[in-house]
Amino acid sequence: MTDQSQSPASQVPLFEARGLSKSYGHVEALINVDFEVRKNEVVGLLGDNGAGKSTLIKMLSGVVQPDKGQFFRNGTEVDISSRQKSEAAGIQTIYQDIALVRSMSIMRNIFAGREPVNKLGFLKMAEMRETAMGILDEYVRIAGINSPDILVEQLSGGQAQAVAIARAVHFKRDVLLLDEPTSALSVRETEKVLNIVRDLAESGVSCVFVTHNLYHAFRVCDRFAILAHGQNVQSTLKSDTSLNELTDIIMKH
Ligand SMILES: Nc1ncnc2c1ncn2[C@@H]1O[C@H](COP(=O)(O)OP(=O)(O)OP(=O)(O)O)[C@@H](O)[C@H]1O
Ligand SMILES: [Mg+2]
Repeated sequence: MTDQSQSPASQVPLFEARGLSKSYGHVEALINVDFEVRKNEVVGLLGDNGAGKSTLIKMLSGVVQPDKGQFFRNGTEVDISSRQKSEAAGIQTIYQDIALVRSMSIMRNIFAGREPVNKLGFLKMAEMRETAMGILDEYVRIAGINSPDILVEQLSGGQAQAVAIARAVHFKRDVLLLDEPTSALSVRETEKVLNIVRDLAESGVSCVFVTHNLYHAFRVCDRFAILAHGQNVQSTLKSDTSLNELTDIIMKH
């Protein structure tokens, strides 16, 4: 990953934000923040409480608008001023309280809002079931999910995360934003989510991973972008830093 991010072919980031600012009344949540994601990269977005991480994630998801700033995909400016536009720019967000409908099946959640229909407007159930099963087999591989008809409310937190990730993968988003995806998960589920993030990066889906757990960040991320008080503090490749150094940087701001 490290070599690739420095090769000439990838000089232009897959996705880039420049000069993002956002105030809420007197609170400056973000001040002239730059952020980039490269192909096949897992970026750890780090910083203490209130640093501005979730604000940045929400801007990239199109649900919060910056007061100032621009977004670029492969060097071309893009408008991501709504969730739909952000998704069209290849971005999918997985929140801790993920946007799944708990009373619907895994299959319906994967397709939610984008179900294939036939000419008469009926849902293509067999096609959806087959596709959902394919995604579950290929990407999720989480014990206990062996049918797309299981209701999401019957899943554990980690399994539900995996379904949300499967949805992003199916619709070919290539930038996946995860805001504290593991904060309420068991050790075993956390392991699975961390492994999925790593697998996704290898298979071409870049990830932005927000976490307070620096051990997790250090395991899965290729690079770290650190915010403090709404400002960029540092961006450093994993190969150029250490867990101790990251802790120090976050603590001293
Ligand atoms: N909707 C809002 N209205 C008012 N202030 C807000 C709003 N959203 C965020 N803020 C403020 O902006 C600052 C950045 O908040 P943000 O949620 O981005 O931090 P964070 O880095 O995600 O923190 P945490 O690690 O605690 O999740 C904080 O001071 C927060 O109180
Ligand atoms: Mg947050």
